[in-house]
Amino acid sequence: MNIGIESISFFTSRYVLDLRTMAKARGVDAEKYVNGIGQEKMSVPPPGEDVITLAANAGHQALESIDTDSIEMVMFATESATDQSKAGGIYVHNLLKLKPHCRVFELKQACYSGTAGLLLARDMIHQYPDRKVLILMSDIARYGLNSAGEITQGAGAIAMVISSQPKIMTIEPESGYYTEDVMDFWRPNYRDEALVDGKYSVRVYLKALTESWNLYHQRTHIGFEQFSRFCYHLPFSRMAEKAHKHLAKINHIDLSEHELATHINDGLVYNRNIGNIYTGSLYLSLISMLENNPQDMSNHKVSLFSYGSGCVGELFAGQVLPGYRNHLSSDLHQSLLESRKELTYPEYTDFYNFAYVQDGTTQSMPTFDTGCYRLSQIKNHKRIYETL
Ligand code: COA
Repeated sequence: MNIGIESISFFTSRYVLDLRTMAKARGVDAEKYVNGIGQEKMSVPPPGEDVITLAANAGHQALESIDTDSIEMVMFATESATDQSKAGGIYVHNLLKLKPHCRVFELKQACYSGTAGLLLARDMIHQYPDRKVLILMSDIARYGLNSAGEITQGAGAIAMVISSQPKIMTIEPESGYYTEDVMDFWRPNYRDEALVDGKYSVRVYLKALTESWNLYHQRTHIGFEQFSRFCYHLPFSRMAEKAHKHLAKINHIDLSEHELATHINDGLVYNRNIGNIYTGSLYLSLISMLENNPQDMSNHKVSLFSYGSGCVGELFAGQVLPGYRNHLSSDLHQSLLESRKELTYPEYTDFYNFAYVQDGTTQSMPTFDTGCYRLSQIKNHKRIYETL
């Protein structure tokens, strides 16, 4: 039985900051951001947009050609949750008008948890092939103003339908994974901004990649050369280059610059222009690879490496299905990116500094473009959403 991705889409904020604008404001050489880090633009969420509205927009797009009554489970993966108790997926379940006989819950492990959801969904469908799972991965990356991580911020959501009628990619059953208790990136409950030891996180990422690959290879005997493309979790797009050179090295492969570009570059396009969307980052790279690759990728094998600080890594494989292009939302995604409103630097800091009430007073949100859904009010400590 084939199990995998039947439908996949992303949504990102309708506002964007060009990192050259940030570089000018900070007196930094823009080449550092564009080439050194590999980021050109970052999506910035306006007041009234949160992980719920981002996920609802992505979910709405991914469910366009799906019978919503077939969705038996919604997993909501995030590390920027709006509530310590209630799963964000329940608001989205309501906004998307899904049936009540549906299991909804939230997953957390930094940028990795969506992958846990995907692979658990795969196992569930193996047992119940007529059921479908909606996986939402939604995050707003937020570091301190002027911190090293600030220019890697981003905001966006991925929605995927996993089923036994995949149209885009099958997900193979075997994987290699690795866990180690480290403090490379974390966000205590009392903070809005993440704390990160950036250089250390890159080292731990590479260690988790080595360990995950070794277990994957030991279990499957599948080699580096059997993959056509490699997608990586991308906290910033140059991470793919570091990761891929590392993977080639541990496999004793002398990678040419041309091979490096072929293996990873199409998967960087969207991430370079959106920023880090945490849980969805690997899958944004997958969509980018599928939608920006001029070559027909049918039947090609793709390596997917997921990493969540703290840390968990997992490497697994997908096989692209013939006819996949007919089921992508390439035009929608392109126009979503091209129609974003460019922010000035003061507009960016205004959005960044917008304060949500924390004391139960009623707060009505100013109106900005947030797609089909918005957070309209916070009242009596309750978030109130509306469909536009
Ligand atoms: N032109 C071109 N490249 C330049 C440059 C310039 N003017 N100035 C610097 N660079 C290059 C550096 O040589 C370096 O390249 P390298 O990685 O190949 O060594 C790169 O730009 C970054 O410069 P650096 O000074 O090391 O950056 P930084 O101290 O600002 O930190 C990160 C970079 C990525 C560590 C930081 O942005 C960060 O912490 N990001 C968040 C990481 C994260 O999210 N991790 C958690 C999940 S994995």
